[in-house]
Amino acid sequence: MPVFQLLHITDTHIFSDSSRQLKGICTHDSFHAVIQHAHDRHPSPDAIILGGDMAQDECAASYHKLAEMLSSWSAAWMISPGNHANIEALEHTLIPALEKLSNYSRCLQLGEWQVITLNSHEDGSIGGLLVDTELQRLEELLSAEPHKHTLIALHHHPIAIYSRWLDRIGLKNSQKLWQIIGRHNNVRSLLCGHIHQAFDRIHNGVRILGTPSTCIQFKPLQQDFSMDNKSPGYRTLSLMPDGRIETIVKRIDGFIPANLNNDDPY
Ligand SMILES: [Fe+2]
Repeated sequence: MPVFQLLHITDTHIFSDSSRQLKGICTHDSFHAVIQHAHDRHPSPDAIILGGDMAQDECAASYHKLAEMLSSWSAAWMISPGNHANIEALEHTLIPALEKLSNYSRCLQLGEWQVITLNSHEDGSIGGLLVDTELQRLEELLSAEPHKHTLIALHHHPIAIYSRWLDRIGLKNSQKLWQIIGRHNNVRSLLCGHIHQAFDRIHNGVRILGTPSTCIQFKPLQQDFSMDNKSPGYRTLSLMPDGRIETIVKRIDGFIPANLNNDDPY
């Protein structure tokens, strides 16, 4: 039975102006370096999940640029929008641009697996929220395929990661998500961005995975905002037919802020 290969690329925070920096890092250049690294090693994954916070300035020009930079892949595309998202521009710019490259999906069937993306964007908020229609959609998808192993991708982290400042801006109604997951036994993993750090923990029998950003990294287990001296990265996932996931975080070299105490607004 086949194994399916996925890439998770998240928190690119690019600007329409390619020279702009976030905390001293040129987000275009770090994203470009990540794509090159990932494409050289994984030229034909089955799917690529964009984990949210793709454009810092949330504008159509940035989404065009993003799709252009990803155009060497022809995998199935999925997106879990984050707090930095303009949903209208995303729907009218990024998704059509990705559809020109290959298909875009919010629920992908891959053999013994289904992969579902959720939208946790809430206008005007850094934290995340799953609206009732999104929760209802998840419930229906899990009910429709009770025997399929399921991977759910969403931007905001669905459990406490014990960084006080990040846990204040996590998923506000995570309890409702966990109630739905608890009514089914087919969810194997939740995959998130937002936390700009590698994370891997089992919660209620479900594997919670977090992926580094393609730009700046946040230091784990901190009370207040704190950057880490780690390079940008991405995550590869192999979905095994028996429901296991083999996954690796890969990092490029360089792109560590010169001043880790930079207090420019994030
Ligand atoms: Fe982010």
